[in-house]
Amino acid sequence: MLHKNLGVNEMGHLTIAGADTVELAKEYGTPLMVMDEERIRRNIRIYKDAMERYFGKGSYPLIASKAFSCKYIYRVASEEKIGIDLVSSGELYTAVSAGFDVSNSFLHGNNKTDADIEYALECGVGHFVVDNMTELDRIDDMAREHGAVQPILLRLTPGIDPHTHAAITTGKVDSKFGIAIETGQADEAVKYALSKKNIRLDGFHCHIGSQIFDIKPFCDAARLMIKYMVSLRDGIGYEADILNLGGGIGVKYIESQPEVDYAAFIEKMAEYINAEVASSGIKRPVIIMEPGRSIVADSCLTLYTVGGTKEIPGFKNYVSIDGGMPDNPRYALYQSDYTVCLASRMNEKADFVCTVAGRCCESGDLIQENVALPKPVRGDILAVLVTGAYNYSMASNYNRIPRPAVVAVKDNSSFTVIKRETFEDLVRNDV
Ligand code: LLP
Repeated sequence: MLHKNLGVNEMGHLTIAGADTVELAKEYGTPLMVMDEERIRRNIRIYKDAMERYFGKGSYPLIASKAFSCKYIYRVASEEKIGIDLVSSGELYTAVSAGFDVSNSFLHGNNKTDADIEYALECGVGHFVVDNMTELDRIDDMAREHGAVQPILLRLTPGIDPHTHAAITTGKVDSKFGIAIETGQADEAVKYALSKKNIRLDGFHCHIGSQIFDIKPFCDAARLMIKYMVSLRDGIGYEADILNLGGGIGVKYIESQPEVDYAAFIEKMAEYINAEVASSGIKRPVIIMEPGRSIVADSCLTLYTVGGTKEIPGFKNYVSIDGGMPDNPRYALYQSDYTVCLASRMNEKADFVCTVAGRCCESGDLIQENVALPKPVRGDILAVLVTGAYNYSMASNYNRIPRPAVVAVKDNSSFTVIKRETFEDLVRNDV
């Protein structure tokens, strides 16, 4: 199977963390997202242990909320004692509601509104990751009103092209995010930040993109950031304490993709970064990373009920499911790869090549094309694997379809972590 937490039982049913997915679909209904809690915790621990071991004490991962934000994930993050990255007041509110200590959080965003800044100051967010000069002014002013000195990082664009999908590339100079080193604007921002009384500049952040398997762009970005830190030390005597390298490590969605050994990846990054730091003679910074996808993606799958098939002779076959782009817009947006299987008949020959289509009134509502399955019939359970990241968090109510339920499986039992939306939920804000 694609990942070790998946299997097939004696009934020929797909299992996740040992739980029978067909039984789960029966118990909770479909579409249903099923999370393997041990897998989330395992992924977190791999990052946490490797970062401390290879980057040194004090270095740690944050979980990137945007990949999957709900109270449950913040409770897990809190129990595992890692930090979080946030990108909106909504994510912050969710974390606070879950009892997460947000002094261990980093607030991103290329347009933090006054309301966002106010709320984050009130909640005691640990660090703001400042994206532009206007924001520096606002944070300084508002922190003054709070009688506070707000720790910040500056988000810089190192000018790296990681060769991933254009929509998820972020570290190039031409980006809506961050301040470019290359143009000299970063220098101005650093000097400006250092001149502000109610801001404490603790260091720098960069994030080059997402779903990247190659280690080179991460090392290149780190090298450019360190080079920049050296230039600041030499030029104005400023030494940063923190270097936050963002997230972006790739996840195996389909057989032909590699399975990244995150500990080995970090070990190699650390070898490179530690050598750069040592040869430059700068103070060793605390290294922070913000993995999102690689913590939650492979812990989850989505179950659907098949409505039927449609065969168009000389063209292709379609399989219709009871979800689609409202719960997983990633194929429609990025033509993302997914592994699809017929969870209810895993041992049968997969010789029916088809396109898996969602139920929305839109031709682009597809989950995957050219999938080989045993020919599905109405009532079969179809599974899409590796859906923990950027599925629920990007879900919508398009066509007034309620969002699915999310359940977690742990120690041979299952429990709801996000309830299925009801029709009442859909009209709650309609006046
Ligand atoms: N830190 C920052 C500042 C980010 O912008 C992101 C992702 C992350 C961390 C986490 O990256 P990860 O480890 O998850 O790759 N919706 C797209 C992905 C957008 C990623 C945006 N930023 C998708 O579905 O593929």
